[in-house]
Amino acid sequence: MKNLRPVGVIGTGKYVPERILNNAELEKMVDTNDEWIVSRTGIRERHIAAPEQATSDLAYEAAIKALDSAGLKAEELDLIVVATITPDTTFPSTACILQERLGAKKAAAFDLGAACSGFVYSLAAATGFIQNGMYNNALVIGADTLSRITDYTDRNTCVLFGDGAGAVVIGEVPEGRGFQSFDLGAEGTGGELLKLPAGGSRLPSSPETLAAKQHFIYMSGREVFKFAVRVMGTATEEVLRKAEMTKEDIDLFIPHQANIRIIQSAMQRLDLSEDRVMINVQKYANTSAASIPLALVEAVEEGRVKEGDRVVMVGFGGGLTWGGTALIW
Ligand code: UT7
Repeated sequence: MKNLRPVGVIGTGKYVPERILNNAELEKMVDTNDEWIVSRTGIRERHIAAPEQATSDLAYEAAIKALDSAGLKAEELDLIVVATITPDTTFPSTACILQERLGAKKAAAFDLGAACSGFVYSLAAATGFIQNGMYNNALVIGADTLSRITDYTDRNTCVLFGDGAGAVVIGEVPEGRGFQSFDLGAEGTGGELLKLPAGGSRLPSSPETLAAKQHFIYMSGREVFKFAVRVMGTATEEVLRKAEMTKEDIDLFIPHQANIRIIQSAMQRLDLSEDRVMINVQKYANTSAASIPLALVEAVEEGRVKEGDRVVMVGFGGGLTWGGTALIW
């Protein structure tokens, strides 16, 4: 990305719903226990949206904080991208719902679906629009309400997911800062391993699909685990190579928060000690597209990201997909 207009993060905000669902409560719902969940995943609790809250409501709360921290008015926004697989409705898009609610009258708005990699995919897309001069700024949000597509009678999946939203405003930054590289990828061959079978044009909603529980997340956990461990390593190495950085340069590594064991395997491969890695999976579980921005925003709030720091973010998810980026804060 040499000689292009430098683009970076100029504002951040996050939101998680108030209600916390902890492992002890899940023990009463399915045949599981705190010891299994913590040792296999690192998750202790997750936040769950209130019945009246949809994805755009979570996204809105994160967005107003991000706009405020960027010192930007909603009317000044050029673009809104919402990474989500749980939009309020198939259409209008969640980004359009948000555009109206924020009063971002001149902003173009669209949703982007790349599951848990969606936030990094969206950052790459929005950065491109700004680099090529089409827009000056963008609000990029990762927001998901996975509780709405989780089967709370299935112990294989229901312990893993939570709800939340993380937002950034991106725009031009001083020379030498901002996004240095992106690495996006997909392996459609693994599409069957992680999916929501019904409700689309292949299998429209019907009494049969409801009865067969096809409106819930289906996942082949062990296979996704192997994919995740592999691409966390390769995608990180690729973004470092493209940014002309080495693993020693990483000041803060922000991985997708799906499973502590996946994060630990990346830490081992990259020789990263805990003080160089952002981990909050224990509090929020896997929040899909919201996971990386929630971790980024929390790191900023905790003072763990300083000006000039080299930050690497890498995610993986349904599709199957992966996305990584290296930036100088
Ligand atoms: O954002 C991307 C989305 N997905 C992921 O990142 C998920 C990637 N995969 C994983 O994180 C892990 O594969 C899981 C956490 C889903 C599962 O961990 P695992 O170590 O791969 O366990 P397993 O699937 O091999 O299951 C081991 C055992 C099984 O029992 P049997 O068949 O060996 O008797 C499961 O039935 O653990 C059982 N099990 C549970 N036991 C207690 C599965 N879920 C639970 C549970 N409580 N909640």
